[in-house]
Amino acid sequence: MAKKERINFSKIGAIAAATGSAVGLGNILRFPYLLGESGGGAFLLVYILCVVFLGLPVMISEFSIGRMAQANAAGSFRTLAPKSKWWLVGLMGVISAFLILGFYVVVSGWTLEYIVQALSNKFANASTAQLNQVFTDFSTNTYRPVGWMLLFTALTCFIIIAGVKNGIEKSTKLMMPLLFLIIIILGIRSITLPTGTEGLKFLFKADFGKINSEVILSAMGQAFFSLSLGMGCMITYGSYINKDNNLSSTALQVTIFDMLVAVLASIAIFPAVFSFGINPAQGPELVFITLPNIFSRLHGGYIWAVMFFVLLALASLTSTISLLEVIVAFLTEELHISRAKAAIVSSLGIALLGILSSFSLGIWKDFSLFGYGFFALFDSITSKILMPVGGIFISLFVGWRIDKQKILLELSSNGKYKIPFLNIFLLITRYLAPLAILLVLLNQLGLTKWLGF
Ligand code: TRP
Repeated sequence: MAKKERINFSKIGAIAAATGSAVGLGNILRFPYLLGESGGGAFLLVYILCVVFLGLPVMISEFSIGRMAQANAAGSFRTLAPKSKWWLVGLMGVISAFLILGFYVVVSGWTLEYIVQALSNKFANASTAQLNQVFTDFSTNTYRPVGWMLLFTALTCFIIIAGVKNGIEKSTKLMMPLLFLIIIILGIRSITLPTGTEGLKFLFKADFGKINSEVILSAMGQAFFSLSLGMGCMITYGSYINKDNNLSSTALQVTIFDMLVAVLASIAIFPAVFSFGINPAQGPELVFITLPNIFSRLHGGYIWAVMFFVLLALASLTSTISLLEVIVAFLTEELHISRAKAAIVSSLGIALLGILSSFSLGIWKDFSLFGYGFFALFDSITSKILMPVGGIFISLFVGWRIDKQKILLELSSNGKYKIPFLNIFLLITRYLAPLAILLVLLNQLGLTKWLGF
């Protein structure tokens, strides 16, 4: 069978696309809170160690698998380990992509509602109680969030239909610089507030007393989710990276950018929160209630609010396209469905999951499966089970199954680059990463504090 040349990202395109995947709601909704609550500078240190010793090697592994095989997540395992069951790891990734999108698009849709609210100056002069009410009314409403979710899913679908070059590469090359510009401006605005330096001190003051095994494991989990690892996203994108590009330096740049946005988001949010003496809420409330509250009191709050929610929407969109591409690459290559058909069919499936998720916060609040509403269920299955399991198998695959020489050739682009860290890399993929991720998995299965949503 003559092999068709696979579509390739340009060097910048690869970085933009992969950074776009990594930078998402995880960086802006979750990381700042973890940093503020779990020991500030001490947490940052732990997080950086997790990213460097765990996230980076797993990302390099995923890139290598994809580029070596030149195929989608499941196809890659099938190509590299024919006549074995390894392809199931890829299939699990495709299923994970569905489930992640099933709740992610709901929150992504909220960002569109909030752009509109910011544009129509809804936050000005609103009291905390009112903002609270607005968010609760909106997120539990039956139709409105679903409408935005459908729009967001359709947007993602359009970009994917446009293709790897004209859709993913072009759009992320446009959106990512804009995202960086916005977050830098928001960061500067925050530290120049009267109490900006105090906020920074609170945020980064290292409190090692707060570091315990629970915090370390949550840092690992966050690193995994934030870097889009463990479910074949980076395998799929890796398959589009040009053979001449240096995989490890691409992965390094992506991880640095991802951390940078997480830290900048914290800087943009926290000093402002503290300068108004507001208690930082967790997760969505922080962004959808506390921040509008702050924007309403800030000089020029209108423009900051618009910028912030545009930032959130951009970060979401570049992540949802990477997730949809995992599914579409699989469907087109394995089941030979056309790209447009694959994108539309999978988007319809995602929309259905999205409706279930959205309803589970409102009219179906009392309905639960295994103790979870749909939203929390999709979130939990993926981040607590599927992604850690995927991560373990991906590391083991690169560490044990693929020939060391083949890995060296892939990482060095056939000898073009020097790879002095090969042995450390293999040590991590063989032992450290699988064991560390196993700990995360066991912790999440056994010691879950989460009962319900
Ligand atoms: N990394 C993104 C975030 O932080 C979300 C995301 C995109 C993701 N692709 C993924 C998470 C693949 C896990 C796996 O929001």
